[in-house]
Amino acid sequence: MSVRLRAGTWLQAGSVADLDRADVLGVPLPRDHERVPREALVLRDPSGTVRAYLNRCRHLPIPLDGGSRRYLDDGKRYLMCGTHGALFRREDGYCFEGPCRGDSLFALEVEIDPDGTIWISEHAG
Ligand code: FES
Repeated sequence: MSVRLRAGTWLQAGSVADLDRADVLGVPLPRDHERVPREALVLRDPSGTVRAYLNRCRHLPIPLDGGSRRYLDDGKRYLMCGTHGALFRREDGYCFEGPCRGDSLFALEVEIDPDGTIWISEHAG
């Protein structure tokens, strides 16, 4: 997937049509201030609203998928930590089961152009 900048702090993150073909889009982000690679996870919530989260858990600074590229539980209802099996709601990133229960993933802002292009904020709000 190509990524281009929009007004400095927004990144193109595919299109809504891409989410018809894939449950979750992994979108590379610029590295953080310590040069650590970052990635966004873009998906639909149960209402169909497009959401984006940093691919990083709140209780350990590791990618949620543990590098497996598998982001969802078996039923594809929730985001899942590949290391601990913790489950996170799609609509708000809230962890309701697992070691970080009660915390929420870092959410990124999402905007969608009329043509379906998805834009995400580079930094968590
Ligand atoms: S790293 Fe936090 S639940 Fe697995």
